[in-house]
Amino acid sequence: MASKAAKTVYICSECGFESPKWNGKCPECGAWNSFEETTVSPAAPKSTATRNAVKAEVFTLKEVGTTDDIRYDTGVGELNRVLGGGLVKGSLILLGGEPGIGKSTLLLQICGKINPDLDILYISGEESLRQIKLRAKRLSVENESLSLSSCNDAETAVDTIHAVKPDIVIIDSIQTMHTETANGTSGSISQVRECTNIFCRTAKSLHIPIFLVGHVNKDGGIAGPKVMEHIVDAVLQFEGDKNYCYRILRAAKNRFGSTNEIGVFEMTDHGLEEVSNPSKSLLEGRQENISGNCVACLMEGTRPILTEVQSLVTKSMANYPARIGTGLPFGRLGILLAVLEKRAGLFLSRLDVFVNIIGGMKLDEPAGDLPLAIALMSAVYDTPFDGETAAFGEIGLGGEIRGVPNSMVRIREAARLGFSSAIVPKSHTSHNSGEKPPKGIKVIPLSHISELNKLFKVKKNVQED
Ligand code: TYD
Ligand code: MG
Repeated sequence: MASKAAKTVYICSECGFESPKWNGKCPECGAWNSFEETTVSPAAPKSTATRNAVKAEVFTLKEVGTTDDIRYDTGVGELNRVLGGGLVKGSLILLGGEPGIGKSTLLLQICGKINPDLDILYISGEESLRQIKLRAKRLSVENESLSLSSCNDAETAVDTIHAVKPDIVIIDSIQTMHTETANGTSGSISQVRECTNIFCRTAKSLHIPIFLVGHVNKDGGIAGPKVMEHIVDAVLQFEGDKNYCYRILRAAKNRFGSTNEIGVFEMTDHGLEEVSNPSKSLLEGRQENISGNCVACLMEGTRPILTEVQSLVTKSMANYPARIGTGLPFGRLGILLAVLEKRAGLFLSRLDVFVNIIGGMKLDEPAGDLPLAIALMSAVYDTPFDGETAAFGEIGLGGEIRGVPNSMVRIREAARLGFSSAIVPKSHTSHNSGEKPPKGIKVIPLSHISELNKLFKVKKNVQED
């Protein structure tokens, strides 16, 4: 039977959608100008005789063994937590993040902290061995069983892995790898997909964990994204603002654990340090008796995190007053200002408003509405809000304060950090199973934002003239 000729297909670099012809706009995800040309040569079908001869082994559920020692302790508690309790043998893990966020630093630090009996092979296609050595020196990584290799060719990398037989492999990064079995330049969707497949087969056949570093594109997705996510076992995203020191590691996919866990790190002069008590670190150095601030009880996955919302209002000199917020979803600030004006009687339309969330944290869950409203009210009244009180709750367009999940977890975290009271949605009790708040913290339930006015002794709006 004559083998079919290689055919040309077009793949969307955003979602992996395959089409026989080029499209300006992807019909699947709606991305513009995202199609890349690639050729696929269909594998020759095996004859029926050969197919019948090969049978996969079949086991009953009972026969399949699970051994307890399949996870390695990485030596970094926050990473173990995100991986679901350690590094699983034979797994392919994609570590994604913006360039410069600290991916190579994190992986190199693991090399220094992991059990020294494990042999690690670090294959870098980005940096020279000298650069890695210098970084290792800076990070005090002195692991004798760490081997380095500089290589851009996926087949050579696999041959090296077979020859060296390491216990753990790190490929930094998948976008710099190239294979002859796909066309296109390194980093193109066809190359990234094929290289990921090659390393996936290696991880499974040698039963070793392989970390792949992947850069994210400008929209925050991993470049060559969906096609890779399907292949790998876990996708870890390293996030944070490069200008701030906090970094959050979260699992976007994990075949071996929950995707709710997050790990918090701080970038220091000596590399990344684990932050096991993030709320305490975020609240350090808080200024007392300053207007415009309120502490928010947020959730990052299953972890409660307390951070400070800061706001500043000034008389606007422009026709269109400024509304500038960092760490807030687009439009959220505008909606909240409209609700405060209409439902709590604040005069805001001639004021410039600036909002900042401490530590580069994001106020992207609805529970951040109430602390933001309190911070803004405190700024407008120019009256400091009680620094011993934390808050959480969603605000509806009618000004009603709505319940949010995990209310007791948030209250407990505020109590643990020594807050004397917490302002919470009135319906908070319906979101927990009748559990009592811990001793030492007073819970103040509110149902409407107009009730916030009574928290401030001065009720006169500074612009009310
Ligand atoms: P890097 O791990 O190279 O990022 P990625 O691999 O994600 O591209 O991180 C580099 C950044 O981290 C760089 O801007 C410098 C900073 N950094 C520190 O602040 N302290 C350190 O000890 C190290 C090694 C890096
Ligand atoms: Mg790097």
